[in-house]
Amino acid sequence: MAKVILLSGSPRANSNTVDVLNICAEEIKKNGVDAEVLSLRGKRISSCIACNKCVEKGNCVLNDGLEEIINSLREADGFIPAAPVYFGTARGDIMSALQRIGKVSRGTDKFLSWMVGGPIAVARRGGQTLTLQEMTMFFPINEMIIVGSDYWNMVFALEEGTTDQDSEGLNTIRLFGENVAKLINKLKE
Ligand SMILES: Cc1cc2nc3c(=O)[nH]c(=O)nc-3n(C[C@H](O)[C@H](O)[C@H](O)COP(=O)(O)O)c2cc1C
Repeated sequence: MAKVILLSGSPRANSNTVDVLNICAEEIKKNGVDAEVLSLRGKRISSCIACNKCVEKGNCVLNDGLEEIINSLREADGFIPAAPVYFGTARGDIMSALQRIGKVSRGTDKFLSWMVGGPIAVARRGGQTLTLQEMTMFFPINEMIIVGSDYWNMVFALEEGTTDQDSEGLNTIRLFGENVAKLINKLKE
């Protein structure tokens, strides 16, 4: 069965970003594609150190837990990274993760190629569009396919567990999840 990996870049226990990804995952599953939500919570993700060892070793040699996430992505057909907005841009760890994931893919067997997905941003009030633009850069350079919805993939929430106050944002995410699954199903036909 085709599968989508959804990756949260939030450090919080009751993360809004994870809540949004769970809703997205539910919609993907409803449309016949498996989905798994992973999180960077509890990890300290380093930035790429340009050692190029991934080319010879086949995976990132930095020992901070990203290797397992990369292994999960190798088996996946879709990828949806999501970030809380910090000071108008994506939280640093998710960008470090994306840069290393991209480096390993490009340095090895290009496992990201033709993977379907797109980014999601969660914030109290401002910076979602720039965060989405920042994260979007990861997709086309890795031969990935970005899927749309009826608005940009952003949800407004501040305190933990408050995403339900942004019903429009959640509906955008539901439609995005549905479209991701539908495109993956089409590609598998
Ligand atoms: C260091 C820090 C910076 C933040 N900067 C912004 C910001 O620029 N714009 C905004 O709207 N919200 C900002 N927030 C609020 C978070 O984006 C918001 O609480 C979001 O729901 C967090 O998602 P999470 O629960 O998944 O971690 C910031 C929060 C923190 C901790």
